Amino acid sequence: MKKLKVDLGINSYPIYIEDGLLEKVDTLIEKHLPKTKKVFIITDTNVEKYYLEIIKKNLSNFTVEYMVIEAGEKSKSIAMLEPIFTKLVAAKLTRTDAIIALGGGVVGDLAGFIASIYLRGINFVQIPTSLLAQVDSSVGGKVAVDLIEGKNLVGSFYHPKLVIIDPKVLQTLPQKFIADGLGEVTKYAFIKDAELYEYMIKFENMQELIENIADIIYICCDIKKTIVEQDEKDTAERMVLNFGHTLGHAIETVCGYENYTHGEAVAIGMYEITKISEKMGLTKAGTLDKIKKLLDKYNLDTQLPDMQRDELFKVIELDKKNLSQQLNLILLKEVGECYIHQTSIDFFKEV
Ligand code: GLY
Repeated sequence: MKKLKVDLGINSYPIYIEDGLLEKVDTLIEKHLPKTKKVFIITDTNVEKYYLEIIKKNLSNFTVEYMVIEAGEKSKSIAMLEPIFTKLVAAKLTRTDAIIALGGGVVGDLAGFIASIYLRGINFVQIPTSLLAQVDSSVGGKVAVDLIEGKNLVGSFYHPKLVIIDPKVLQTLPQKFIADGLGEVTKYAFIKDAELYEYMIKFENMQELIENIADIIYICCDIKKTIVEQDEKDTAERMVLNFGHTLGHAIETVCGYENYTHGEAVAIGMYEITKISEKMGLTKAGTLDKIKKLLDKYNLDTQLPDMQRDELFKVIELDKKNLSQQLNLILLKEVGECYIHQTSIDFFKEV
C-alpha cells in the first residue's frame, strides 16, 4: 500500500493509495478514528449503485447511516445543506463520529463543507471515486458550495482525517470523467513535473496510462500535498494549482457544467493562456506545442468553444480570486516550471 502524509501540524493526515482499498475501510478508519462509533456516508446517485453496498459491508464495525444526493454540480448548493443537516441530527451524529464523502469532487466539497460546520466541526473522511477527486479535490482541505453567481463562493478550509484512494474504482468511471481527471493530471506535469510529462507522453495509449494510474495518482498527490504544506490557505504557492483555471471556470459557467467537465475546461484554459503568454514572450517558445501534444494524446480538447466574449469576461471578473481587480495568473516558464504573473483582465483580450 502506498502512503503519503500531508504534514500540517495538528491537522496532518494520511493518504492511502491501493487497488482494492474499499475492502479495508474498516481497519483504516478504526486506526485513525478510534473513538468513532457511527459514520454517515454522503454519496451520489452515480456512485451509490456501484459502491455504497460494498462500503456498507466493509464498515460492519460501525453504525452506518447514509444519504444519496443527485449526481452533478447542482447538488453543491446552499439548498442541499438543510436536508443533510436534518438527517445528521436525526442520525444523532456526534462530534466523535464521522462523515464519509464517497464520490467525486461535488460530493467531497459538499460533504467536507457540511463536516466543517455541523456541530462546529466533525470528523471527515474522503473516499474519492473519480480521478479528479483522487488527484486533486480530496487532498488539501478546500470544501465549498456554489452560489448562482459562481463556483465555490461559500466554503472553508477543513481537512479530512484521512483519504482512502482505491484506483480500482476508476474501472466504472465513464470516459468523459477520466478525461476530467486527466485535465488536472496534465496540469501537475505542466506546472511542476517535467518527468511526469515525459512519463505520460511515452505511454502508447490511454490503456497503458490507465494500467499505471495508481503511480500517477501517487505522483499527483505527492505534488499537491507538498504545495499545500507550503501554503495551506492559498495565499501564495498554492495559487499555482490554478493554472488554466481562470478561463476554465469561466468556460464551465458560461457553457454549462453538463457540457464541459472541470478538467476539460481547465485543459482549454491551460492551452489558451499559454498561447497568449508564449506570444508575449512570457513562456519559452515551443511550450505550447508540447502542451498540445500531451492534451491531444489523451483526447483533451484545446479549442475554445464559441461563446460571447463579454460573458466570459464578466464571469472572470466575478471569480472570487479576481474580486480585487488584480488578476494573479499562473503562467509556465516552460513545461515543469510555473510562476505567478500579476496582471489585469485585459490579459485575456488576446483570446
Ligand atoms: N484545487 C486547487 C486547490 O486545492 O488549491
